Amino acid sequence: MGIKIFVPVLAVLPLLAGPAMAQDAAAGEADFKRCKACHAITADDGTDIQKGGKTGPNLYNIIGRQVASEEDFRYGESIEAVGETGLVWDEENLAAYITDPKAWLEEVLGDKKVKTKMTYKHRKGAEDMAAYLKSVSPDAPPAES
Ligand code: HEC
Repeated sequence: MGIKIFVPVLAVLPLLAGPAMAQDAAAGEADFKRCKACHAITADDGTDIQKGGKTGPNLYNIIGRQVASEEDFRYGESIEAVGETGLVWDEENLAAYITDPKAWLEEVLGDKKVKTKMTYKHRKGAEDMAAYLKSVSPDAPPAES
């Protein structure tokens, strides 16, 4: 009676890569060139993380910050009205906002007569951009599920 040594043949199947990561901060960072005409990212100590224009508010620490709360910036009245509700930027609502600022303001305020000063729509890669902005938001709350 021979001893059967069972040698499992391990099928070395490559682990199927999961679905592409929904958020890719590096892709968002590369895409920030589309925001630079109007936005800079400047740390509290004055370090330029991204040099950029001043048409729009500084986006440092934006995730976790109340909507329309950059002190030195004069916002339009619609986004200010949203800020007054106490709403805070998270990755989800920021991605929705940058995809179509006017449509987002309309939806949040339930008003068709909104005005936005942000005339740019970031139609592709908004989640990646939100992930990137979170990476430059040291005060952001830990990951939402
Ligand atoms: C043409 C100029 C312009 C471009 C390009 C632009 N923005 Fe803006 N953005 C603005 C302005 C102006 C505001 C203020 C909106 C208002 O007051 O209605 C704003 C507001 C914002 C806010 C809200 C900030 C706050 O303090 O609540 C976020 C977030 C934002 N922009 C992200 C982006 C991102 C990310 C990009 C690139 C994908 C981008 N913007 C591209 C002009 C721009």
